Amino acid sequence: MSSQFTKTILRLQLPTDPRWVNIAEKNIEEILVDHAYCEQKAATSGISLIVKYPDKTRLVEEMTDLVAEEWSHFERVLAELKKRGWGLGRNRPDEYVVELTKHIRKGGLRERQLMDHLLVNALIEARSCERFKLLWKNIQDEDLQKFYYELMVSEAGHYVSFVKLAKEYMPADVVDARLKELLEIEAEIIRNLEPRPDRMH
Ligand SMILES: [Fe+2]
Ligand SMILES: [Fe+2]
Repeated sequence: MSSQFTKTILRLQLPTDPRWVNIAEKNIEEILVDHAYCEQKAATSGISLIVKYPDKTRLVEEMTDLVAEEWSHFERVLAELKKRGWGLGRNRPDEYVVELTKHIRKGGLRERQLMDHLLVNALIEARSCERFKLLWKNIQDEDLQKFYYELMVSEAGHYVSFVKLAKEYMPADVVDARLKELLEIEAEIIRNLEPRPDRMH
């Protein structure tokens, strides 16, 4: 079921290494800290899109809602840390996001660049969603199970919204073709990253 969900719904080409969830559970403080920063970065990325494309009304509206939602996720992760007597640790480099972001093409049509940016964000949402599903299904802590379930649902919605939004600004067939390319690229990035005990990705 898990790999069906990964492949058909999220369309991710490579399921997460099953070892990841085991090492993640043993390092839940590190995972929560990294997760908090993922939410912060998701909010920041939404703000950057607003600043970069203020003329795209639909984008500005959708990003405004998204930023609020990602920020509420950030608050919720902080609360989970606090509940366990932990604080927000240092931010770490996010190799996965850095590698993926390299595929946002510079120059050319402004809308093409926007499409790439939206699709990269869509893939980060999809992968996060897949990981939340693994955590929800496998982790022992019942509070965290519920928490990860809710985030999985929310990030799945963001994935769909980002792809839809890209189609507002570029023809649907162009978006689908680029999404297909980026899905391949994303799988290659995941293939080359060792599952780490202190990273969401
Ligand atoms: Fe989020
Ligand atoms: Fe999200």
